[in-house]
Amino acid sequence: MPIDLETLGREAKTALESAQNLKELDNIFHAYLGRKGKLTAVLRSLGTLTKEERTQIGKEANETKEMLAKIFEQRKNDLLREENRRSEEKEWIDVTAPGKKLTRGHLHPLTLIQRKAVEIFQDMGFAVVEGPEIESEWYNFDALNIPKNHPARDMWDTFWLNPKFLLRTHTSPVQIRYMEKHNPPFRIVAPGRIFRYEATDARHEINFYQLEGLMVGKDISAANFKAILETFYQRIFQAPTKIRLRPSYFPFTEPSFEVDMQCILCRGGGCSSCGQAGWMEMMGAGMVHPNVFKAVRYNPGEWQGFAFGMGLDRLAMMKFGIPDIRLFYGGDLRLLQQF
Ligand code: PHE
Repeated sequence: MPIDLETLGREAKTALESAQNLKELDNIFHAYLGRKGKLTAVLRSLGTLTKEERTQIGKEANETKEMLAKIFEQRKNDLLREENRRSEEKEWIDVTAPGKKLTRGHLHPLTLIQRKAVEIFQDMGFAVVEGPEIESEWYNFDALNIPKNHPARDMWDTFWLNPKFLLRTHTSPVQIRYMEKHNPPFRIVAPGRIFRYEATDARHEINFYQLEGLMVGKDISAANFKAILETFYQRIFQAPTKIRLRPSYFPFTEPSFEVDMQCILCRGGGCSSCGQAGWMEMMGAGMVHPNVFKAVRYNPGEWQGFAFGMGLDRLAMMKFGIPDIRLFYGGDLRLLQQF
């Protein structure tokens, strides 16, 4: 059986040396030296040869095998090095490249003013409570002495959800919810979002924020309200501000007032932000109406107190000099980044 080991060896050597990747190299190696490889077949057949042939061919075959194993190892190292180099090139990181700047968030001016207002009232002993944004007709109107078909209901343009439920038009329903569950004396504030079905302009939005206040005791008077108001404005603005109380009407307070502040933006001269009035309406307030106490089963002969509902948006406009309420809801970063 003529076996041309020299040709076989040369052929295998060329094939191994020209392998382009590790997988190919492995396949070629196995084609010669695997279990069914060509050279393996020669080595297996040695037993069928004569003694002289066996010594001669066996020696040659083993030499060829060793030679191929060496070439295989070498080619494998070359290919590995090549592959490493390629992946390093691909995954190269430029450590000198400039970093990506992480931008910082900002608290919204309404969040800032709400936190500050709440903090000032807490310092004066007020507890902080909350109520739902979806309200029933009872809490938003009836319990506040605003019966169905009473013209006073027109004071609040309402988003009705169905005949019984609505988006609260003020934070005053929280007064009722609190008084139903607690006995006087107490003082609370209730910040929150409210909704009005009305046309928007520089001072009006379809939703905005209020801070409701309620203080009830045996001898709480309008004088207490004025004192608390003065302390509050002094601390919020930390500068002289002009405030005035005007007689007004709310079904749930008697007497009722409206608190105006001289417009900070025009210093009272009149501008588009204050509707040329020179004054900005900041809150409604008054002494709690006996009918409200009756609705929560308090004895109006025994208890009295004041309530107020201040607009946080207008407070933020005055505090930060923002000319238009709609800016608060536009999400414009040029505004937000200033805070
Ligand atoms: N709830 C009234 C409003 O939104 C404001 C108010 C609150 C008035 C408490 C008096 C007492 O217009």
